[in-house]
Amino acid sequence: MKVLNHRVAVVTGAASGIGLALARRLAVEGMHIVLADVEPDALEEATEQVRADGAEAIGIRTDVRDLGAVQELAARTIEEFGAVHLVCNNAGVETGGSFLEIPDGAWRWVMDVNFYGVLNGCRVFLPFLAEQPEAHIVNTASVAAFTSGTATMTPYCVSKSAILSLSESLAIELHSSNSPVGLSLLAPGPVNTRMPDAERNLPEGLEPARDPQRVAMMAELRAKAQHAGLDPSEVAGMTVNAIRDNQFYVLPHPEMALAGVRRRLQWMETGVLPAPRKAGT
Ligand SMILES: NC(=O)c1ccc[n+]([C@@H]2O[C@H](COP(=O)([O-])OP(=O)(O)OC[C@H]3O[C@@H](n4cnc5c(N)ncnc54)[C@H](O)[C@@H]3O)[C@@H](O)[C@H]2O)c1
Repeated sequence: MKVLNHRVAVVTGAASGIGLALARRLAVEGMHIVLADVEPDALEEATEQVRADGAEAIGIRTDVRDLGAVQELAARTIEEFGAVHLVCNNAGVETGGSFLEIPDGAWRWVMDVNFYGVLNGCRVFLPFLAEQPEAHIVNTASVAAFTSGTATMTPYCVSKSAILSLSESLAIELHSSNSPVGLSLLAPGPVNTRMPDAERNLPEGLEPARDPQRVAMMAELRAKAQHAGLDPSEVAGMTVNAIRDNQFYVLPHPEMALAGVRRRLQWMETGVLPAPRKAGT
C-alpha cells in the first residue's frame, strides 16, 4: 500500500504501547485514524493525542473478543470516514502460570483477545478493504510465535502461533487470488509498553497467577521491557515501512525470531528437547 495520505486506518489496542505508537505514526503519515480499545479513559486520552498530531481521529470503545463489537467498529468507521484502507489487529493480552494451574477462563481470555480478536478483525474488515484499489492488514503476533516453551507463558505462545499460522495462510490466499489487500505480520521481542501489566484487563473472576516462578518471570520481563525494550515508536516506523513495501514479516528483533525457528529445526532434526526459554531472550 503505497499511499497513506488521506486514507483511513483502524488500530485495535490503540490506547497504549505499540497500538498508540502506530496510530500516532499513521496520523503523521496523513491518515484518518479510528482508535479501538477496551480502556475508555486511556482511549479518550490517546484519541486526543492523535488529534494533536494533526489527524482526524475517533475513538470507539471495542472489545475485540466480541464479533458484534468488531462489526459495529467497521460500521462506524464507514459511517464516519466512508471507507477503510488499513486495519492493524494489534490488541493483545497475556496471563499464564504453570500448566495445570492455568484456569480455563485464563486460556479463553488469552485466546479470545489475541487469536479471535485478530480473526474477527480479518473476517469483518476484509470485504471493505477488498473494495479499495490498495489496502493492508497488520496482525500483531510476537517472537513468542516462533519460540514455544517460554516458562509460564504457554497460552500466550499458543495464541501467537495461531496468529502466525492464520496470517501466513491468509497472506498466501490473498496474494494467489490477486487481492488488492496485502498483509503483514508484526512479531516483536521486548518493547517498552504496558504489556507486563496486561492482567489489568483480566475479566472478572480471574486472578493474576501468583506462583513464585511466574512472579519472578514477570518481574524480569518488566525490567527487560523497560531497560532493553525497543521504544514503540521504532516498531511503528518499521511497520509503516512494511505496509508501504508489502513485506509480510516485520521483525523488530530478527535475531530472536530466527533463533526460535532454528531451535525448532534443530529439535526436529536431532530429536533432542530444547531447554525452557526465559521471556525476552
Ligand atoms: N510489549 C512487548 O514486549 C510485545 C512483544 C511482542 C508482542 N507484543 C504484542 O503487541 C501488541 C500490543 O501490546 P503492547 O505491548 O502495546 O501492550 P499494552 O498493554 O501497552 O497495549 C495493549 C492494548 O490492548 C488493549 N486491549 C486489551 N484487551 C483488549 C480487548 N479485548 N479489546 C481491545 N483492546 C484490548 C489494552 O487496553 C491496551 O491498550 C499485543 O498484541 C502484544 O501481544 C508486545
